[in-house]
Amino acid sequence: MTPTPDIPSASETMAASVGRTLREEPQRWLSPKWFYDDLGSVLFDAITRLPEYYPTARERAILVARSGEIAAASGADTVVELGSGTSEKTRLLLDAFAAAGHLRRFCPLDVSAGILDQAATAIAAERPAVEVVPVVGDFLHDLDRIPTGGRRLVVFLGGTIGNLTPDEQGRFLDRVAATLEPGDGLLLGTDLVKDVDRLLAAYDDPVGVTAAFNRNVLAVLNRELGADAALRRWRHQARWDPDRERIEMHLVSDGAQVLRVPACDLEVPFADGESIQTEISAKFRLEGLAPLLAKAGFGAAQTWTDPDGDFALTLATRD
Ligand code: AVJ
Repeated sequence: MTPTPDIPSASETMAASVGRTLREEPQRWLSPKWFYDDLGSVLFDAITRLPEYYPTARERAILVARSGEIAAASGADTVVELGSGTSEKTRLLLDAFAAAGHLRRFCPLDVSAGILDQAATAIAAERPAVEVVPVVGDFLHDLDRIPTGGRRLVVFLGGTIGNLTPDEQGRFLDRVAATLEPGDGLLLGTDLVKDVDRLLAAYDDPVGVTAAFNRNVLAVLNRELGADAALRRWRHQARWDPDRERIEMHLVSDGAQVLRVPACDLEVPFADGESIQTEISAKFRLEGLAPLLAKAGFGAAQTWTDPDGDFALTLATRD
């Protein structure tokens, strides 16, 4: 496989990844994967409760309305959730699959061991008849560790596919298709293009939870890599890129400063106003979803949105 500029390889350590992406010019960047230490996962969970952060509530509304239909159409006995976090919305799906009578296994996969463990324990206790198989890993590199057999539905909620560039989205979907057997399914959540003010408010809330979530990645670098970031000297910023139709999150340097990361043998000077890009969150258009999935070998796509058309859930079958 050819190395790709954007996706850290499976074997790449955090120090190697951070060393590589912080050296990139003109835009230094960090993989959003590093947000999710135990505190970062809790802060993300708090984001999902903010009134400005509409994707969670919209996706939940779709699941409340459509989980029965989804369970019936999919017929899966194994639900595999990528980037599962607390698996809070997934319970709606699991209820519907259990009611339809064919839920045998649930496999949550997440980079955060703490959150994964809590979620897996809670769901195992709620559903003694379901085999819970948690996998600590990331959705780009650890697909080969999800259990085989039965009819599987891979669930990728929240719009997290938007963290990937279009090229990476294609490669990710190819990998999911390669992991699945014909007849298995994919349920994909995507946030849709909408009014820019609402998009920006969702990523720059007035309470400052998203700012804390963003800055926490520097605390992760300090702890894990011995970095010396002064968190108060980095400002949270959300930007909308109208050409690529994506939100970008940045940490903007307040004044000139040097960021030292000993584990990466790195000293990066930042000018006042210069930034580190910490996340992209692409927004989608309904008409693009079926073609995106078809390109990777997923057909028969059915898409549902919430009544306001803010968010979409697409069920597709591996050809
Ligand atoms: C978990 C990747 C879907 O992009 O909306 C929320 C992460 N970042 N607020 C998103 C996030 C800032 C979220 N995803």
